[in-house]
Amino acid sequence: MLYPKDRGSNKRESGSASRRKVSPSAIHNDFPVLFSERQIAERTAEIGRQIDADYAGKSVVLVGVLKGAAIFLSDLARAITVDCTFDFVAVSSYGKGQRTSGAVKLIKDLDQPIEGKNIIIVEDILDTGLTLCFLRSLFEQHKPGSLRVAALLDKPSRRLEKIEADYVGFKIPNHFVVGYGMDYAERFRNVADIRLMPPDYPELH
Ligand code: IMP
Repeated sequence: MLYPKDRGSNKRESGSASRRKVSPSAIHNDFPVLFSERQIAERTAEIGRQIDADYAGKSVVLVGVLKGAAIFLSDLARAITVDCTFDFVAVSSYGKGQRTSGAVKLIKDLDQPIEGKNIIIVEDILDTGLTLCFLRSLFEQHKPGSLRVAALLDKPSRRLEKIEADYVGFKIPNHFVVGYGMDYAERFRNVADIRLMPPDYPELH
């Protein structure tokens, strides 16, 4: 399985006898590219056109899930032409030191009421589905006019909850990826393309 071991908040836990301390600068150049900037831009443009068609004559609120979706949201927003506003939420998805605790906690709530509005939750990766299930039931309580999900990446094999995204950039197998907003220990979010994280990658400080 190509997945960094013992992921907790996307940070490797200590304990490996062989672990080395490394500086993350420039190391990502060795990580294999899964999707290039160009592939991401082309797919984002396609999703934008689909959203334009689905919401023609309507307004939408793009709700980004911080921090991973920030870059996807900023590109997706510029790929759509329908009337649009932004909001952001932040959640913590994993308990400390556990791979998937199942507990999702809201850290930052919506700024604006969503009642009666067309909401598109914008997420970087749909993985176990715990985060999006939590957000979907939370938002449904506020009675939006409609509620859809746009996820740049989808890892169906990891799903624990029954949830699908309405707009998906790419379906991927069970690999841990970084770049284009996605992190390992908060690093690599600024890498322009999406890259595969080597499973034996050393701990970062
Ligand atoms: P879920 O609740 O398991 O669906 O969690 C989704 C969140 O886990 C994403 O928004 C990411 O923050 C994080 N995540 C899942 N897989 C990866 C990955 O391969 N790289 C970086 N972050 C990931």
